[in-house]
Amino acid sequence: MLVAIDGPAGAGKSTVARAAAHALGFAYLDSGAMYRAVALAGDRDPASLRIAFDGERVLLDGEDVSEAIRTPEISQLASRRAAEPGVRAALLVKQRELIASGDWVAEGRDIGTVVAPGAELKVWLTADADERARRRGEPPEDLRARDERDASRDHSPMVAADDAVELDTTGLSIDEVVARIVALVRG
Ligand code: CDP
Repeated sequence: MLVAIDGPAGAGKSTVARAAAHALGFAYLDSGAMYRAVALAGDRDPASLRIAFDGERVLLDGEDVSEAIRTPEISQLASRRAAEPGVRAALLVKQRELIASGDWVAEGRDIGTVVAPGAELKVWLTADADERARRRGEPPEDLRARDERDASRDHSPMVAADDAVELDTTGLSIDEVVARIVALVRG
């Protein structure tokens, strides 16, 4: 089974997806971390990169880059690189390989639309823009720039799948959001 969780920056996708995966006993895929790793790798061919997950750690060619990929510079650069068709194609292959077997909660921008359109459950996670900026500790204008770039690109733009369940997390606790997702899965 695959649960796809997509939505804009700061909606709580990573926290919620990780906790939901834990509660369900599913594996967890942070597709954004892969775009961040590509950004960190500079001008190297994305198809040649070895991007791996070891628990909560992200490894790029064996090196632990978990902190290095979370800087504000990499956030912006990742969303720029994510508009490149070659980058998306390379990561699509890697993501599909990862989720090919077992049960997954996968989160990102295009999981329900492109990576796994056949996902059994699709959740579109949103929250009020001010609350998202506050949660992320990212200046509101930076967050807005990323969201606009992500939503307006030609290739796999950030958009809710037609069959996604929309979940507005404004004012909800993490536990409440996770409980809703778990209930939708067990439905
Ligand atoms: O955690 P946050 O929502 O701030 O960002 P992220 O999920 O780590 O993703 C970083 C950037 O990667 C996003 O701004 C998108 O441009 C890109 N991304 C994407 O294009 N497609 C995905 N499936 C996941 C991330």
